[in-house]
Amino acid sequence: MNIAIVGSGYVGLVTGVCLAQIGHKITCVDVDQEKIKKLKLGKVPIYEPGLEELLKKNLKNKRLSFTTSIREATRKSTAIFIAVGTPSKKSGDADLTYVENVARQIAVNMDDYKLIIEKSTVPAETGKRVARTIKMNLPKKFKKTTLEFDVASNPEFLREGSAISDFMNPDRVVVGVESKKAEKLFREIYKPLKPHMVVTNINSAELIKHASNSFLATKISFMNSISQICDKLGADVLKVAEGMGHDKRIGRAFLNAGVGYGGSCFPKDVDAFVRISEKSGYDFGLLREVRKVNEEQKASFVRLIEDKLWIVKNKVIGVLGLAFKPDTDDMRSAPSIDIINALQQEGAKIKAYDPVAMPNAKKIFKKITYGKDPYDTAKGCDCLLLLTEWDEFKKLNFKKIGSAMKQAVLFDGRNLYHDKGLEDLGFEYHGIGRGVGISS
Ligand code: UGA
Repeated sequence: MNIAIVGSGYVGLVTGVCLAQIGHKITCVDVDQEKIKKLKLGKVPIYEPGLEELLKKNLKNKRLSFTTSIREATRKSTAIFIAVGTPSKKSGDADLTYVENVARQIAVNMDDYKLIIEKSTVPAETGKRVARTIKMNLPKKFKKTTLEFDVASNPEFLREGSAISDFMNPDRVVVGVESKKAEKLFREIYKPLKPHMVVTNINSAELIKHASNSFLATKISFMNSISQICDKLGADVLKVAEGMGHDKRIGRAFLNAGVGYGGSCFPKDVDAFVRISEKSGYDFGLLREVRKVNEEQKASFVRLIEDKLWIVKNKVIGVLGLAFKPDTDDMRSAPSIDIINALQQEGAKIKAYDPVAMPNAKKIFKKITYGKDPYDTAKGCDCLLLLTEWDEFKKLNFKKIGSAMKQAVLFDGRNLYHDKGLEDLGFEYHGIGRGVGISS
């Protein structure tokens, strides 16, 4: 099928490249000329394992092309995905300016049937508004004779760092449609993946996305709360997660306590869902608490460091991992930001290392130095923090790390080294929710 993807950010690019890989003819659109130029040359502007290889392959076999012209993409395609950004407003509401703008531009360029699909995470009822915008902006010649089109919702469930495999092996594909024709087209688009399809109306599809992300954030905050109790009661959060996770009704995934969730999705989506609920007349207090627990988890990690170091001022603190999670260079709402800022405010000197996120981190942090690798970072440090569980950090030589440090103290914000016997190597080791918290 000829398909257009408007917006070549994270979601749009992965969707476009993967749909080309499964056999469709894809035109990706973006207003950023520089980005389009690079993409045409096979260069991916973000770090996502496997994406560049697939991009190059599908450029070569001509199933994938890039343009800055919505007109060209609209004319060529039967289905058009809208995958532009929906940033948060101060109120927590999603800013849908880009979505509206794209809908208008698609409408003025339409000349035959189109299936217009929202891929961006949007509040319920956006589908109706997109449909209205399109209807109002159709070319004049279609004002009397109506031009047929469908609006649909097809939320994405891609995790950064494993987006390609998430796309190719989906747990489910959710489609919100209002016509049989739209449903048929979706079945054709996703046929090569043989997915489990959940077909529903547009409002329900939009809600599935918000409910899924908010539920996952709730699972994490729940476990982070448990970690606090574990420290107070001398229990081990890892064993609690294991014991709970074997219950099929609960499942082990997303029960990892740590320094809190970050990224471009959970914080923004939880905020948006709280607002959507509020506007609908329901106070989603549970979600407000999820958000509060997430903030508190970062603050409590900082308090633990302050407690153990006693005086933070002028101490050199090494940080391993800056990205909000492994396998991405994304720094958006990364817990490292709040943690480093708080420690700097107390006068700490920060020395950090991340396998891929340092160029993005340099745009955010001021006055921090960067190590060449974990060993260089550990040199002369009063303590080391592990904030992102990169594979590279799993295999460190801790004898070497310990002897490079001024004092071998490690705060493991992801419980990555819980079984490495660091105490036997002379480390003072602090994990999350391992039964020993702040000294009373
Ligand atoms: C998330 C969802 O998992 C995707 O399904 C969704 O499509 C995406 O948001 C989106 O809305 O676009 P992502 O933000 O890439 O994906 O990353 P996750 O793997 O979900 O992790 C989010 C945060 O939670 C990270 O900071 C991670 O470290 C943290 N986390 C995750 C925990 O603290 N504990 C866990 O047990 C799991």
